[in-house]
Amino acid sequence: MADFPVGVSLQAARLQSERFREVAGSVFSSVTAGYEMKMRHVARSPDFYRWHNVDALVEFAEANQMQVHGHTLVWHQSTPEWLERFDGSDEEFEAKVREYIFAIVGRYKGRVTSWDVVNEALDSSGGLRDTVFRRRMGEDYVARLFEYAREADPDVLLFYNDYGTTWNPRKRAAMLAMVDDLQRRGIPIDGVGLQLHVTYSFPHIGQIEAVMGELVNRGLLVHLSELDVRVNPDGDQTELTRSRSIEQYLRYRDIVAAFLALPPENRFAITVWGLRDGDSWLIAHWGNPEWPLLFGDDLEPKPAYRGFLEALQGDRNGA
Ligand code: XIL
Repeated sequence: MADFPVGVSLQAARLQSERFREVAGSVFSSVTAGYEMKMRHVARSPDFYRWHNVDALVEFAEANQMQVHGHTLVWHQSTPEWLERFDGSDEEFEAKVREYIFAIVGRYKGRVTSWDVVNEALDSSGGLRDTVFRRRMGEDYVARLFEYAREADPDVLLFYNDYGTTWNPRKRAAMLAMVDDLQRRGIPIDGVGLQLHVTYSFPHIGQIEAVMGELVNRGLLVHLSELDVRVNPDGDQTELTRSRSIEQYLRYRDIVAAFLALPPENRFAITVWGLRDGDSWLIAHWGNPEWPLLFGDDLEPKPAYRGFLEALQGDRNGA
C-alpha cells in the first residue's frame, strides 16, 4: 500500500484463521511476531530453542511476499527464567547470550530483514535500565549486542527500539546520546524504532516529528515500530464513540503523514501493533476497554484505516 513496508504484529495462533491470513496478507507488507521471537519464548532452556511458532510466522510472511522484522533479541521483560537466574560466571552468561543471538539471527539469515537488537534499555530518567544484561555484561552491553548481531548476519539491519522517546525529554536525550556514542565508535546501528503507543491526543505530533528529525539528522532509518492509538486512556468509555473514532482517524492520518514527510531514504517502515482491536495487548495492559487498531474484531476496516490510507495517498482533505 506504500513505497515503504507497512507492517503488522501477529500472533502465530491467529494464522489458523483463513480470513485473518487473508486480511493480514493482503493489507500489510511486513510481519513482526507479537511475542514468539522474544528470547523467553524461543530459548526455553539453555540447550533447547523452540522454533515452530517463529517458523510459522516467517513462512506466512514469505507465502505472502511480506518482509519480516525481528523483535527482539534482548528485552528485560522477556528474559528466560533460567538466564535471569544463571549461576555461571559473567563470561559464561555473555557466551550464552552470544550463542542465542547467533542461533536466532543465523537461523533466519536472509529471511529476516531487520532486528530490534535491544528493546527498552533506557529508563524514564534517562539512565541505563537496571537489567540482568547490564549487571552481567557491564555498562557497554548494548554495543556488544549490536556487534554480535552484526557478526551473526552482516546484511541484516539493526535497530534500537524504545517507547517514550517522543514525550519524555530525558529519555529522548539519553537515546540520542547513546546512538551518537555507538555511531562515533563505529558500532553497527542502522536505525531506531519509536514504539508509538500513543493516545488520540497525546503526545503532540510535533514531539513525534522532532525525534524523527533528530534520527534523520544522524542518517538513521526510522521505524514507527509498534503503532497503536488508544481512545480510552481514562477508562471512561464503554464503546468506540463516533467522536473518538474520528479523533483516531485523524491521529493515524497525521502520524502517517508526518512519517511521509521524512526523506524517503530514512523511512524504514511503519508497523501497527496488532491487526484487530480485540487482540491488542493494551486491553490487558491497562485493564480498560480499548479499540486501538485499524480493524475491528469482525476484521472490517475502521475509519482509522481510512486515515492511514488517506495519508499515504496524500489526501489531507477528506474527513
Ligand atoms: C507485547 C505483546 O503485544 C504481548 O502479546 C506480549 O504478551 C507482551 O508484549 N513493547 C514492546 C512489545 O516492545 O514487545 C510489547 O508487546 C508491547 C510493549
